[in-house]
Amino acid sequence: MDSRRILFVDADRETIQKISKVILDATKDWECEIVGSAAEGLDRLDSAHFDAVITEVVLPDLDGIEFLNRTKKRHPEVIRLILSEETNRNTVLQALEATHQYLLKPCIPMDLLSVLQHAFAIQHAVPNARLQKLLGKLTRIPSMPACYQELQAALSSGDATFRDIGRIISKDPGLTARILKMVHSAYFGLPRGVVNIDQAAAFLGTDFIKSLVLTLELFTKYEQAGISRAFLDRLFEHSLLVAGLTRALAKEGGLSATEREMAFTAGLLHDVGKLILAENQAEEYQSVMELQVTYNINIWQAEWRVFGVTHAEVGAYLLSLWGFPDEQCNAVRFHHQPHLSKDNRFTILTAVHLANAFGSIPREDLYHTRRRIHIPYIEQIGGFDDLPAWEQACLNLIAVAEEEVI
Ligand SMILES: [Fe+2]
Ligand SMILES: [Fe+2]
Repeated sequence: MDSRRILFVDADRETIQKISKVILDATKDWECEIVGSAAEGLDRLDSAHFDAVITEVVLPDLDGIEFLNRTKKRHPEVIRLILSEETNRNTVLQALEATHQYLLKPCIPMDLLSVLQHAFAIQHAVPNARLQKLLGKLTRIPSMPACYQELQAALSSGDATFRDIGRIISKDPGLTARILKMVHSAYFGLPRGVVNIDQAAAFLGTDFIKSLVLTLELFTKYEQAGISRAFLDRLFEHSLLVAGLTRALAKEGGLSATEREMAFTAGLLHDVGKLILAENQAEEYQSVMELQVTYNINIWQAEWRVFGVTHAEVGAYLLSLWGFPDEQCNAVRFHHQPHLSKDNRFTILTAVHLANAFGSIPREDLYHTRRRIHIPYIEQIGGFDDLPAWEQACLNLIAVAEEEVI
């Protein structure tokens, strides 16, 4: 890995020294610097290049969150992490807009190293300097929603039962009702007899339920943020359809059970970048939509003109920050331009790309749908002869789903 420079801002020098020693031992060309106050931290950031800054919330001279806010303004390209003993919910919530990830002490140094490596890998994968700047300035990069985080923690403990999953979700009756409504849509083929989350989780799998929770929580957050209802409804319907199609295509394409689950999530979240751009850059996003109509171009092409980046890149960046695996981040990142990937076989990206073509709303005629499919890419993965079968799988599912109202 390339050389990286990390700045720690923490008055507890002894603890940080131990952590940074492990990091330095495990990496070749990395450098760590430790300062004890926000003033010194800002000073160092102004005078030298750093790839990441990791701060405690409680600093002797300034609140760590305020320190990160200033860092964000002055050096938006630097990855900002919090490593703190502070677990007060309000502090954590406040901090989430300033930091890319909030990590708690005591910390296993190798965990911190993997967070950093992941964050740097994204920077490398998204070399567009304008995107880096834009993302750094976005005031609201959403944090991982709460119920999703709770599910994630329960599932990673390894001994969570379907009942535990049901219990966590049922704490939010609105969410529970919406999930049950969604799983009963024809996209997911759940029997009518399923009346609670425990049963749905047993039938569909816990990862599947987890992805639905994440999507619903995200959309609810944006409803509260004042994005137009029509825009959200359309995007939500499209995301669900694309998720269902992605899952069906993943099966057709011969992906493993794990890959199929991953594909479903990538399908659900493939356009999440639109939410972020629409909320943070509301006026500009309006002009994106106008451009799209005026010049009859794709939305991502219009976004490229206005922002210099697309919702696909923004979405992939968000998923990377949240620690999603590379296959899913790549599927989101390249879903409109799959030929830019290095794929040479059917992958999660292939499924999302095709599902997005077939799941566009309003539903266009087949001619327009086919035009959305990147044929050179399909050739690149050796799938040209399979295209009619994939198309048929999508059309079958759409025909069933259209009889239902979600
Ligand atoms: Fe898209
Ligand atoms: Fe889409």
